[in-house]
Amino acid sequence: MKETKRDTVEELFRLARAAETEVRIFYRGLRGLFAHDPAAADFWNRMYEDETAHCRELLLIHSALPSAVRRSPADPVIVEKARRNLKLPIRQDFRSIRNLDDAYTIAHDLENSEVMTVFTFIREKYIPLVRRRLFTLSVLEDHLGRIMDFSRRFGDATERRMIRARRR
Ligand SMILES: [Fe+2]
Repeated sequence: MKETKRDTVEELFRLARAAETEVRIFYRGLRGLFAHDPAAADFWNRMYEDETAHCRELLLIHSALPSAVRRSPADPVIVEKARRNLKLPIRQDFRSIRNLDDAYTIAHDLENSEVMTVFTFIREKYIPLVRRRLFTLSVLEDHLGRIMDFSRRFGDATERRMIRARRR
C-alpha cells in the first residue's frame, strides 16, 4: 500500500482548539442574548466558562506532550472529524436564535456533536501520556451534566420559547 503523508498530532490539536473556540464564542454570544434574564445568562456563562476550560485543557495537554508525539501522525479518522467540525454552521445557527428554546436546541446538538467526540478522543488518548505533568482535568462531567439539567431548570419547550433573545 502506498504511504501517504498523514496529519500530525499537532495538527489535530490545532483543529480541535479551533472548534472549541467557535463553541466558546457561541456560548459567549448566548450570554449576551439572554443578559436580561439572570438565570439564563448565568447558565450560558457557565457553559462559556466550561468551553474556556476545554480550550485551556487542550493547550495544556498539547504542551505537555513530548515533541516526538506531537510530530507523529494522528488517527486519520479523527482528524477528518476534527476538520468537518470546522464546517459546522455555528455562526449561522447563532443568528437564527429567537428564544431560549432555539438556543437550547442548538446547544444540545453541539454537545452531542463530533466536537465532543474529538475532545473526548484527545482526552482519552493523550492524557495518559502526560498525566503526571497535569493536575486538574475533571472538566467534562459537569459540563455534560449542565446541559442535561437544562429542562429541569428552565421548563419545557413552551416555557423556554417565552424567554426571548434580545439583540441590541
Ligand atoms: Fe467543549
